[in-house]
Amino acid sequence: MPKVDVSNALPFLPASWLASRESALNEAHARLQENRGPGSDFHGWVRLPENYDREEYARIKTAARRIQSDSEALVVIGIGGSYLGARAVIELLQSPNYNLKKKDTPDIFFAGNGLSTDALLETIELVKDRDFSVNVISKSGTTTEPAVAFRIFKNLLEEKYGKEGAKSRIYATTDAHKGALKGLADTEGYEEFVVPDNVGGRYSVLTAVGLLPIAVAGVDIDALMAGAHDAMSELAQPGAQNAAWQYAAARNGLYEDGKKIELLACYEPSFRFFAEWWKQLYGESEGKENRGIFPASVEFTADLHSMGQYIQEGERHLFETVVRFAACGGEITIPDDPQNVDGLNFLTGKPLSFVAEQAFRGVTLAHMDGGVPNLTVTVDSRDARSVGALIYFFEYACGVSGYLLEVNPFDQPGVEAYKKNMFALLGKPGFEERKAELEKRL
Ligand code: PA5
Repeated sequence: MPKVDVSNALPFLPASWLASRESALNEAHARLQENRGPGSDFHGWVRLPENYDREEYARIKTAARRIQSDSEALVVIGIGGSYLGARAVIELLQSPNYNLKKKDTPDIFFAGNGLSTDALLETIELVKDRDFSVNVISKSGTTTEPAVAFRIFKNLLEEKYGKEGAKSRIYATTDAHKGALKGLADTEGYEEFVVPDNVGGRYSVLTAVGLLPIAVAGVDIDALMAGAHDAMSELAQPGAQNAAWQYAAARNGLYEDGKKIELLACYEPSFRFFAEWWKQLYGESEGKENRGIFPASVEFTADLHSMGQYIQEGERHLFETVVRFAACGGEITIPDDPQNVDGLNFLTGKPLSFVAEQAFRGVTLAHMDGGVPNLTVTVDSRDARSVGALIYFFEYACGVSGYLLEVNPFDQPGVEAYKKNMFALLGKPGFEERKAELEKRL
């Protein structure tokens, strides 16, 4: 289970930062545990680690094995909550260089997460002469970016394998009952997986949305779910020892003190997409009604040489949350240089992790001295069980945080606004009035 350390934020928080929020925390916790409060229709993720469809879970594993045996590449089509979780876990647990590694699992390419012609052309080029399958993921089934990309890859598969052959290489993850993708998958006979009605996109990584691509990449999804289950059991206990309460209360206290931006920092480059997933989770859950911490991310130590100046001396509206992995997978020892030309012999024989540890300690103190409170979330190691627990921890803390902020953490009306404008401007039937109104303004 991740551990939260608030000691480096305490100088910036009133002594009562946790006690003064106790009743609000209790209420937020009770809403999640008792399935009530704004957005409670989307509380399905709270018990997901124990309450999921076992039959579908077994089919996910079977489909992953089939893709591993008949495909050199899997194209995962989706955007937002239908994209970021899978990429986050694959990069964190396998590698950002996963496709370059020697392995017996397929390469994974992500498409439909933007509208770049060049990016799509490149992905087509990378897969077209190889055996590949497609996992198209869209809860609504109507999001433009993945729908357009899916048309293109569906055509590519049909040209390559014929209609029947293509059918057996397309896996559709969508709503159980409605939507254009659901209709298409039923008509064409694709293997289907479900985004549960009561789980929103940004909370869906532990459903088929994330689990199928993650399993294809060779990650142990049993361990991932077990880790989430560990966290679910522990975080169901109310009280000051609850790590999600601590994180939610500390960030809420810092926000009230004018710290409007949270920088999620990590010293592991493989964490980059986990931070993207976290940004969506917190940004979509809290950024509404003209309120909410702006979630941003930095990669240390690289960004200390770019954003470091601003963090140290720019406007004082920031706090940092540093995610640390207690153990590394291996070790590198700094070699000796008899000439000592670079003057680094004082480090000879020291492990690189020792240097990283001193960097962490030095950065924390410097940033605190510069007026940037620091929270630390420590995770045992970069393995599937710990990462499953980390996912659930951030989800639970996000639900608690949103309720502390007195918003509905489970809707995203702002995302819908842009989607509607795009439909209208593209001339989608049913949006004629909006189109006319928007074009007058352009
Ligand atoms: O969190 C959300 O609801 C959004 O980010 C969606 O996940 C994103 O817009 C994709 O939607 P869909 O899965 O319906 O294509």
